[in-house]
Amino acid sequence: MGRFYVTTPIYYVNDVPHLGNAYTTTVGDALARWHRLLGDEVWYLTGTDEHGLKVLRTATDQGMQPKAWTDRTSRRFVDAWRALEMSNDDFIRTTEERHHRSVQLFMQAIYDNGYLRKGTYEGWYCVSCEAYYQETELVEGRLCPVHERPVEWFSEENWFFELSRFEDRLLAWYEESPGAVQPETRRNEALGIIKGGLHDISITRTSIDWGVPVPWDEGHVFYVWYDALVNYVSAIGFGVDDERFRKWWPSVCHLLGKDIVRFHCVWWPAMCMAAGIDPPASFFVHGYLLVGGKKMAKSAFNQIDPVELAGDVGIDALRYYLLREVPLGNDGEFTYEGLIGRYNSELANNLGNLLSRVSAVVVSKCAGVGPPPQPASSSRLAAAAAEVVEDVRRGWAGFAPQEALEATWRLIRAANAELEAVEPWRREPGPEVDAVLGDALEVLRIVAVLVSPVLFKVAPEIWRRIGLEGSPEAPGNAAVEDGVLAWGGYPGGLPVTKGSPIFPRRVVDAGVE
Ligand code: ME8
Ligand code: MG
Repeated sequence: MGRFYVTTPIYYVNDVPHLGNAYTTTVGDALARWHRLLGDEVWYLTGTDEHGLKVLRTATDQGMQPKAWTDRTSRRFVDAWRALEMSNDDFIRTTEERHHRSVQLFMQAIYDNGYLRKGTYEGWYCVSCEAYYQETELVEGRLCPVHERPVEWFSEENWFFELSRFEDRLLAWYEESPGAVQPETRRNEALGIIKGGLHDISITRTSIDWGVPVPWDEGHVFYVWYDALVNYVSAIGFGVDDERFRKWWPSVCHLLGKDIVRFHCVWWPAMCMAAGIDPPASFFVHGYLLVGGKKMAKSAFNQIDPVELAGDVGIDALRYYLLREVPLGNDGEFTYEGLIGRYNSELANNLGNLLSRVSAVVVSKCAGVGPPPQPASSSRLAAAAAEVVEDVRRGWAGFAPQEALEATWRLIRAANAELEAVEPWRREPGPEVDAVLGDALEVLRIVAVLVSPVLFKVAPEIWRRIGLEGSPEAPGNAAVEDGVLAWGGYPGGLPVTKGSPIFPRRVVDAGVE
């Protein structure tokens, strides 16, 4: 049994939660649920990033005080994750007192360790990124390379973090911890940034007061990224609750999109070193969800509301699509047709049919009493199940939920094929019918556990319909020692019930191209 601390980026509150944000939050949620299933002690953190110029300007445009504005906009994220039944253990807001305290203590440690100096900063600034860019990084027409919007010339006196002093230490850290940044392409990207030479970074602002005050220099507030990144340690009590902090740090897994690699995989480990704590153990960087070939974003006007979509297709189906469609790490185009296509073939057909035909035949041929599975030595499905369970474990461990799901569906298809070969619905009740149904029930039991990190709504329903007590999501169900995933756990003799389809087939609106 281990510990698993997993985080998402804290999202900017001036965007409404969109499917791109829900993507990371879903990945984190599924990983958290898988680790709970392994029996690990889990802490899943998400939250909102509420300081900075972009938020201040949006609030001012709305004629509101920034705090009143972020109270309202942060709530949209809380509500969205609640509606999607995310299992986050905490939700941190950078405007919270607990965060302010930890940021001040963390930055004070960097200051005391001698890594901050005062200087003047001038440069091109993208308000949407909350970041300065080198002239050479801008795209034609002096546009931000991420948002393709005009940057602004800023000049101010502020405090600098001497990031340039960390080149060697960062390279050594990357060398020592080859798996710390995944996938490999992102690790190489971060290494490229470091090897290209690091500049000191301005970390405070005097031009605005919407931020965490710098404790040693009145009138300065911390620059938004320097406040935001610290959320990962302020949420676990940095500087305030040492025991709690040590419990979770540094064995953390930071999830993020590829837009914020530099901040996370270069700045953040250096900040940790400067503050005198270990750098985070791991990062997983995923790709973009695209709509019409473009990154889904507020500024692109192509956002999809995840709550509305889940209201249409169901939470499970949305999660399934997000995790199954695109290998984690790659970009992937979101299409409604693609979602409905997978829904119909894999959820309604493969999984839904397996449950409905097995329960129907158990009711008609076995008086509704589920027979036990055959011993592993004589069941064709037992070997397949054992192999699939291993592949599922490997998939989750390797940040490849699509592989875990793909493997699970191999088992579902094998069970359907076995039923089609034996055709118990055409046979007289007897040992052959019992054997194939017992095995299929056992597959359903194992599948209910394996899919539960993703399909947490139907997994308990499958469990219940095949007559099992307790829950497929019980902590430790996927633990190796415990054996819940080993062949033979379905006891037989349980009442099996028919019910309406767990995934009713869907028709794409004929008007939708
Ligand atoms: O960058 N596809 O917040 P943010 C996939 N506050 N993921 C996407 C996505 C898309 N189209 N759009 C957004 C910030 N995301 C900072 C973070 S952390 C200390 C501070 C997800 O609201 C993805 O995780 O712009 C991306 O990294 C994040 O939302 C950016 O959220
Ligand atoms: Mg963004």
